[in-house]
Formats: sequence, structure tokens, C-alpha cells
Amino acid sequence: MELKINLNNNSYSIYIEKGILNNAVDYINKVYKNKKIYIITDDNVSKLYLSSLINNLKANYDVDYVVFPHGEDSKNINTYAFLCEELLKRDIRRGNLLIALGGGVVGDITGFVAGTLYRGLPYIGIPTTLLSQMDSSIGGKTGIDFFNRKNILGAFKQPLMVLIDPLVLNTLDNREFNNGMGELIKHGAIGNKKLLNLLLNKPNIDEEIISLSLNVKKLVVEADEFDLGDRMKLNFGHTFGHIIELKYGYKHGEAVAIGMLLAIKMGIDLGITNKECYSIIYNILEKYNLPTIEYNYLDFLDEVLFDKKNISGVVNFILLTNVGECIIYKLTEEEVRRLKK
Ligand SMILES: NC(=O)c1ccc[n+]([C@@H]2O[C@H](COP(=O)([O-])OP(=O)(O)OC[C@H]3O[C@@H](n4cnc5c(N)ncnc54)[C@H](O)[C@@H]3O)[C@@H](O)[C@H]2O)c1
Ligand SMILES: [Zn+2]
Repeated sequence: MELKINLNNNSYSIYIEKGILNNAVDYINKVYKNKKIYIITDDNVSKLYLSSLINNLKANYDVDYVVFPHGEDSKNINTYAFLCEELLKRDIRRGNLLIALGGGVVGDITGFVAGTLYRGLPYIGIPTTLLSQMDSSIGGKTGIDFFNRKNILGAFKQPLMVLIDPLVLNTLDNREFNNGMGELIKHGAIGNKKLLNLLLNKPNIDEEIISLSLNVKKLVVEADEFDLGDRMKLNFGHTFGHIIELKYGYKHGEAVAIGMLLAIKMGIDLGITNKECYSIIYNILEKYNLPTIEYNYLDFLDEVLFDKKNISGVVNFILLTNVGECIIYKLTEEEVRRLKK
């Protein structure tokens, strides 16, 4: 299954297919004609999938790789420097291809190396977590954490191609899987009612579900490549979610799940959100074992006012109108304060 991302420059294709990891060379051949490929991955993913990818690629390419320790703690300037050094030691040249094999951490940091080393190298994403397959593999945002701030150093860098193999999700542990489900359900909530129906009725996450989820993000990204407006819609559930994530230690996707319920409650109170949205989203979250704890959104409004989305006295809330439809709803600080009364 192919999904084409149409941008002003650097349009590219995402291929979603079971077993594509062992077939990658056929796809990469179409877009990369040089000899040398460098794979970047983490120490978990390398044990699972690196050798089969290398075996597949070495029929046509000269393949080298660099592995770094897994986890968000590695998404920093030290790992970035380590990767650049290792690549240079291995004689990487301008125009050589990088492959990001792994979750969002591998994708973000490899994309950033690809965006900066030699002022830009081609790279291909092979995302291996649910989150990275249906979310971070698209949109061109790359970067690392720095100065205690997430993703504060980064660049927009589009891949040459993305290859998604749903079979690799079988080795993902439950909590990582659920983490991705939070964002997947979010895509359905803001952009595709059919996706929500499939989530309720299908037994497994398959190519169709992954591609419908990516398609929601695709449409938003194509309309707003550099994150200047409409992409804000992807923040549905995040305004309250970020606060809950930090305060109560949930994983990101779990916090987004709770955040969506709060945003729906708020939308219903404001007369913007159709009431049926609540039970539909609630049932899907339950089905996928995501938390559905019912906090009161009014309790978090003070913190929302301090959040980064509070641009020049206006807070942008992303509210559903109906299942699969959302709007950006602006409130002044004063209006937010009045909600509490
Ligand atoms: N660029 C974007 O647009 C964007 C969007 C959303 C999130 N992100 C970033 O993505 C990161 C989170 O990504 P993530 O959730 O994929 O985390 P991750 O990359 O840390 O992966 C989670 C864990 O799963 C392991 N893993 C990966 N694939 C596996 C597989 N197939 N089987 C077994 N284990 C596997 C990893 O080694 C890691 O321990 C964050 O840094 C976040 O900022 C970026
Ligand atoms: Zn998110």
C-alpha cells in the first residue's frame, strides 16, 4: 500500500506492507543509486531487525551501521555528536544514504543528523514502533532534546521514502503499543470517523488502520508543511495531556488519551462538541487499555495559561465539533479565567 506525501519540494512515498523489512532493497533501489548505506538504530531494535535488513540490502549495497542505547535519554547532543563522529570515522561522504531503523527516538535523531551532516544527506525511515509508524515518520520534524527542553534543537528534513512493516509491531511491549494507540485514536478523533469505526470493530492494527491514521496527519502536514497554523490540530488532547503527563507520570500516549476526554468535556460545556463524541472516544480508549480517568478540566486551566500554546494572551484549544472533525478555538486569557467561575 502506497501513500504519497505531496509537498512543495521533496514529495515522497510511504509504503506499508507486511514483511517489507525483508524486501527493502527493491524499494530503496528506486530512489537511491549510490553504493553506500549507513543504518542507524538502537540497541533493542538492532538485536531484532538489523541483521535481516543488512542481509537484504547487501545484495546491492555496501552497508555499515551505528548503534546507540535505546530510550528518550539518548535523544541528546552527546548521541548526536557520537553518531556524526562514527559516521565520519566510517568515511561517510556527501550524498550517502542514512536509514533510521527504530522508533521515534531513532527517527528524530537520525533525521537531524541527515538534516545537518554535510548540510544534508538523504535518509529513509523504517519506523518500528506504532507511534513512529503512524505519527513521527511523517511531517519532517527532526531533532533532539537539549537544555531540559524536548525537541528544542531540530530541523525540518523530509525523508526520501518511508517503509512501514506492521509485522515488527509484534515484538513491541504492551505499554509502547498503547503509547502509539493514544495518538492513533487522536488521528481518528480529529480527522476520520471511519478510522474510529475500524478501531472499534477490527481485532488488530493492520495496514488499513495505519494508512488511514497516516492519512489524517498527511492532510494536515500537506496543508501546513512548516507548522505555522493548521498543524496545531494535531495537538488535540495535548493541551491538557502535557500537563497530566508531567504531573502524574503517564506515558505520552496515555496522557493524550486522558487529555482528549478533558478537551471533549470542555467542548461539550462550550456547546461546540457533539455530546456523542465522549462515549465513542471513551469506549475506544477502554478497548485499547488506555486510561480513562475523569479529571476535571477546570482544575488544569491555570497551568494551561502558562503553557507554550499561550501566544500573546490567546490560548488555542483544539476542540472536536463531531466525531472525526475538529476546529482551532481561540480564547483570551480572560475568557479562560472566566470558565472557572
Ligand atoms: N518527529 C515527530 O513528528 C514526532 C512525533 C511524535 C513523537 N516524536 C518523538 O518520538 C519519540 C518517541 O518515539 P517512540 O515512542 O517510538 O519511542 P522509542 O523510539 O524510544 O521506542 C520505544 C522503545 O521501543 C523499542 N522498540 C522500537 N521498536 C521496537 C520493536 N519493533 N520491537 C520491540 N521494541 C522496539 C525501542 O528500543 C525503545 O526502547 C519521542 O522522542 C518523541 O519526541 C516525534
Ligand atoms: Zn503527541
